[in-house]
Amino acid sequence: MDNRQTQITDPTTHATREALVVLEAVSKSFREGEKTRMVLDRVTARIHAGEIVALVGRSGSGKSTLLNLICGIEAPDQGGILVEGRRLDTLGERDRTLYRRARVGFIYQFFNLIPTLTVAENVALPLELNGVPAGERVGRVMALLQAVDLADRGDAFPDRLSGGEQQRVAIARALAHEPPLLLADEPTGNLDAETGARVMALLHGLVREQGRALVLVTHSPEVSAMADHVWELMDGRLRPWGAS
Ligand SMILES: Nc1ncnc2c1ncn2[C@@H]1O[C@H](COP(=O)(O)OP(=O)(O)OP(=O)(O)O)[C@@H](O)[C@H]1O
Ligand SMILES: [Mg+2]
Repeated sequence: MDNRQTQITDPTTHATREALVVLEAVSKSFREGEKTRMVLDRVTARIHAGEIVALVGRSGSGKSTLLNLICGIEAPDQGGILVEGRRLDTLGERDRTLYRRARVGFIYQFFNLIPTLTVAENVALPLELNGVPAGERVGRVMALLQAVDLADRGDAFPDRLSGGEQQRVAIARALAHEPPLLLADEPTGNLDAETGARVMALLHGLVREQGRALVLVTHSPEVSAMADHVWELMDGRLRPWGAS
């Protein structure tokens, strides 16, 4: 696969701009005892900077698996995965980990904050892992906490915060190292509707302002309504939501 192929149109988008993420006939199956279970079957898609893509589909349809492939937690059985023009599918596990640490921000359903670290230390963690000097980290963490409206909670431990506050810390942490790609697995799944809407509005604003791409798994029609594209996984295939 070469860069020219990143400009081919495909069923999920008509854009011909160079894509941030290219999935080219990606297949993934898991073994279950004697049997092999095909979860993704030749999935092809393009995701561009500045876009929000919502991924929907019933439980077990492969949504988390697809995120795991895009961030390099899993490797595909077949097919090409390109991020920022770099092939992921041919990288070994160590190189995929380094890629993920530097270029991806992940927001989890259950926040996944480290309970023994303060809010500020949680947000600083990706900066530390990416070698940002301590002196620079302080200012950046403060700016990130201001962006998510938690400037006065830096010294608190996560268990003192509400669900919405914890999710905002997780967003600040995911953005800390300025990754071009944000992935979120049901980021509002554990929030009440109003808090979820506020978290989504924040995420939406940050993604748009900073020109990042966001792929998020959601079961919520309100969240899907904020996306540029809604794609559905069904029977291993990806297609625009609502297409027959
Ligand atoms: N590491 C694994 N080993 C074996 N099977 C797996 C593994 N990861 C996922 N699967 C299987 O792949 C299928 C898709 O799982 P996945 O977690 O991607 O679904 P999902 O769409 O995210 O579902 P949910 O909405 O419930 O989170 C499931 O049948 C699951 O059991
Ligand atoms: Mg899942």
